[in-house]
Amino acid sequence: MPPMVEITDVRKSYGDGFEALKGVSLDILDGEILALLGPNGAGKTTLISAICGLTQPTSGTVSVGGHDVVTEYRGARALVGLVPQEINLEPFERVMNTVRFSRGLFGKPRNDAMLEKILRQLSLWDKRDSRIMELSGGMKRRVLIAKALAHEPQVLFLDEPTAGVDVELRRDMWEIVAQLQNDGVTIILTTHYIEEAEAIADRIAVINKGDILLVEEKSALMTRLGQKELRIELQEPIDRVPDILAAWNMRLEQDGLVLVYSYDTTQDRTGIATLIREISDAGLILRDLQTRQNSLEDIFVGLVAEQEDAA
Ligand SMILES: Nc1ncnc2c1ncn2[C@@H]1O[C@H](COP(=O)(O)OP(=O)(O)OP(=O)(O)O)[C@@H](O)[C@H]1O
Ligand SMILES: [Mg+2]
Repeated sequence: MPPMVEITDVRKSYGDGFEALKGVSLDILDGEILALLGPNGAGKTTLISAICGLTQPTSGTVSVGGHDVVTEYRGARALVGLVPQEINLEPFERVMNTVRFSRGLFGKPRNDAMLEKILRQLSLWDKRDSRIMELSGGMKRRVLIAKALAHEPQVLFLDEPTAGVDVELRRDMWEIVAQLQNDGVTIILTTHYIEEAEAIADRIAVINKGDILLVEEKSALMTRLGQKELRIELQEPIDRVPDILAAWNMRLEQDGLVLVYSYDTTQDRTGIATLIREISDAGLILRDLQTRQNSLEDIFVGLVAEQEDAA
């Protein structure tokens, strides 16, 4: 199956010449949840705006469901729903009307049964006759989702859906996203929260300063995260790892003072007890032990730091 969204070498410069996207290429697969993770100003909203046809790339192409977002704007736009980062609702308007209006904008025939289903799914049905200004912040966020879903899009973009949202609502939001995926919707969400990407994404893309630094299956990332390091500090430095310890594949750091052993925390047996005994049998004296677990945060921080170094 061709990708649902195809982004090819997209660059975006703003009026002042600032390049917010520096040649981004990314395929988004039908039915997946992709989390776009990156710090403030990374280019997340710009990228989403380019896919949704709200901003035109300076160069490069984007297609949605095979429709080019510039030359076949209407076909592409009909397939996407966008939940914007900023709440932009009419305070005096009522919930049901707001959502109905969004559907109408796409030239779709009125279908209140469909809108009822959406409002119920988002626990907004009881509020259908409330004015927007009578809703809490979290409810307003859900109205934004209802509006984005009103024309039955195949691809939903959620730009920071849980920024400033409490823990409970965040979990509700995750559940809603999972339900939508079950209904066959492809979902792209941006977030600063690593735990959010961990919780719901099938794939994670990291973006910083307009460059995609990594795109990987979450499960593969998690396997990498299952790696732990045991750092063994010795009383006296050594020149090389003694032959009788060769099977452990350790490396030597800090001028021979620290032996580093990497192991997989998901394995039943890590062998650490045996290793310590063998080190002692090799005549080495331990001074200190430390373990270090990789996290998505380490990977993220490491990637961003590498990019800074390269610049
Ligand atoms: N309309 C604009 N004119 C000029 N520069 C812009 C415009 N919109 C965004 N930028 C710049 O482009 C860069 C990327 O902005 P963008 O909004 O895409 O970041 P983001 O990853 O969504 O950040 P955040 O996490 O804060 O929402 C920033 O440096 C921003 O200042
Ligand atoms: Mg943004």
